[in-house]
Amino acid sequence: MIDPGVIGSLRIAPSILAADFGILAANVQSVDAETDWLHVDVMDGHFVPNISLGPPVIKSLRSYSDKFFDCHLMMSDPGRYLESFKTSGADGVSVHIEVGGTANLISDARALGMRVGLVINPETPYEPARPFLGDIDYLMIMSVHPGFGGQSFIEDVMDKVRRARADITEGNLACDLEIDGGIDLHTAPIAAAAGANVLVAGSAIFNKPVPIDAARAIRAAALAARSE
Ligand code: DX5
Ligand code: ZN
Repeated sequence: MIDPGVIGSLRIAPSILAADFGILAANVQSVDAETDWLHVDVMDGHFVPNISLGPPVIKSLRSYSDKFFDCHLMMSDPGRYLESFKTSGADGVSVHIEVGGTANLISDARALGMRVGLVINPETPYEPARPFLGDIDYLMIMSVHPGFGGQSFIEDVMDKVRRARADITEGNLACDLEIDGGIDLHTAPIAAAAGANVLVAGSAIFNKPVPIDAARAIRAAALAARSE
């Protein structure tokens, strides 16, 4: 497993959902120097109304990147495929709290040797995720409704980010706080100031003329907000 890095440090995670799948490896490598994790959006067409990719693509991509593969499982039955994700080269899997069976999913993913994240949708309250904070490697708060890239940032979820950051700090927990959806040059500082330290960005990186410049600018903007 690739080391995810120092807990709490600012990390940029480009989402390959916005990449050109025909030249996926080249797109991924083009932002390598300015990014930290690679965010891999897996959609099953059931939990969300869209289909993206699965373990075979992760397996192929593994040979072209040594980043921490942060696999976001937008699936109704992630447990059925955990082993397949592990075998394909996933370093971490995040499961949605909305699908239920959270405690088992966390322990099963861990038993397979993967890092584990828990995801909450914009309309899902923070409280049900709280008891799991000590058992997971990252909490991921959705700032768009999952299923599609390029949506607008829902700033209301910053309240959950602030509360989660306060709990992580107070409990001295080894848990990263990730934000996913609508992150760009303008919203990255908002999320970082609220306490998110792993920033997922798809369209704001891959849909730009020079993706690596976009990633560098997002990192700089977020770092500035953290030190304010
Ligand atoms: C949404 C995905 C996100 C998405 C982010 O379902 O989970 O990771 O790719 O894309 P942008 O950055 O374009 O909102
Ligand atoms: Zn995602």
